[in-house]
Amino acid sequence: MTILVTGGAGFIGANFVLDWLAQADEPVINLDKLTYAGNLENLSRLEGDKRHIFVQGDIADSQLLERLLVEHKPRAILNFAAESHVDRSIHGPEEFIETNVVGTFRLLEAVRAYWKSLASDAQQAFRFLHVSTDEVYGSLAKDDPAFSESHQYEPNSPYSASKAASDHLVRAYHHTYGLPVLTTNCSNNYGPYHFPEKLIPLMIVNALAGKALPVYGDGQQIRDWLYVKDHCSAIRRVLEAGAVGEVYNVGGWNEKPNLDIVHTVCSLLDELRPRADGELYNTQITYVTDRPGHDRRYAIDARKLERELGWKPAETFDSGIRKTVQWYLDNQGWVSNIQSGAYREWVEKNYAGRTA
Ligand code: NAD
Ligand code: TYD
Repeated sequence: MTILVTGGAGFIGANFVLDWLAQADEPVINLDKLTYAGNLENLSRLEGDKRHIFVQGDIADSQLLERLLVEHKPRAILNFAAESHVDRSIHGPEEFIETNVVGTFRLLEAVRAYWKSLASDAQQAFRFLHVSTDEVYGSLAKDDPAFSESHQYEPNSPYSASKAASDHLVRAYHHTYGLPVLTTNCSNNYGPYHFPEKLIPLMIVNALAGKALPVYGDGQQIRDWLYVKDHCSAIRRVLEAGAVGEVYNVGGWNEKPNLDIVHTVCSLLDELRPRADGELYNTQITYVTDRPGHDRRYAIDARKLERELGWKPAETFDSGIRKTVQWYLDNQGWVSNIQSGAYREWVEKNYAGRTA
């Protein structure tokens, strides 16, 4: 048996592939386009491991998909591939439509044809698991209850709108064609291999480099944080026991304002790698112009996944954030290798127009 993972060289996909092969011998076909966010160094531990077959390619490439499915006959597809950064979606939404909408559509079409060609017991056992986000539900007011699976879709950024469209396509392929799909909507992840354009790794990397720590607006926007390995364990559990056609919200009940996150990162660095001049890292905090359309609050109600599938996160926020900061301290070579020209250009584009 084999599974096919898309986007397995990115942050969550790479953590998933590493954890999967640490726990089972079932091979993984890893299809990834290697955009700026894809990094084979994330998978360097698997070099020479025959259970990992990496294929560079696009989920929108129908011919490639058809060939891979016929050749490897996976029993499940896990779709992580996406453009994933809200700020990039504001500067350039087109790639988000190409990958998240058109790409998911092409993938579903290829998978539908493959699935129909399987014998009936293999058809029944087959799963298409779509990895999505809580951002499709929009923004919550301070005292609103957390997002349940039946919360209406109200995406506010080109990123969340494109993910919402992909979720709808996945749902439709189940209802119309009977494709055995599962969808997970997870809150903000953090942990090893997180690309340093996102809040937590950006703050760690900038703090260590003596740079400004850019907090958007008043820093009181709330996100619900989950350690990436807990997201991976939830996906494994949903793949194993989720009911076909169902949606599962994934989260760890860790709502925090952005400013608190930045202060936590600063205090951990003060403890683990104090500044040479004796100053505190939080003196580097700078308030910058807010993100347009910035969602105020996300919060996930993960009780369905806990109740029906018995999943629980292993990390608290305190344990997970400490491990994460330590990982970045121990892996500064990984950081400097991805700080390529393209990454520097992005930092220039995103922050140059923001007034302090
Ligand atoms: P990421 O940006 O780190 O990685 C995305 C990966 O997909 C990269 O390796 C990239 O090369 C690959 N990719 C992009 N376009 C592709 C294409 N057309 N064909 C094949 N591969 C392509 O993203 P991530 O943070 O690891 O997120 C993975 C998935 O989880 C996404 O679907 C995202 O929407 C979802 N998600 C992310 C979070 C989060 O906090 N990061 C939370 C919930 C859900
Ligand atoms: P991000 O990591 O981009 O994830 P998302 O937008 O998908 O939630 O951002 C997390 C929060 O941190 C979000 O409210 C925006 C904020 N933020 C900053 O304040 N400064 C920054 O430099 C970045 C990248 C994000």
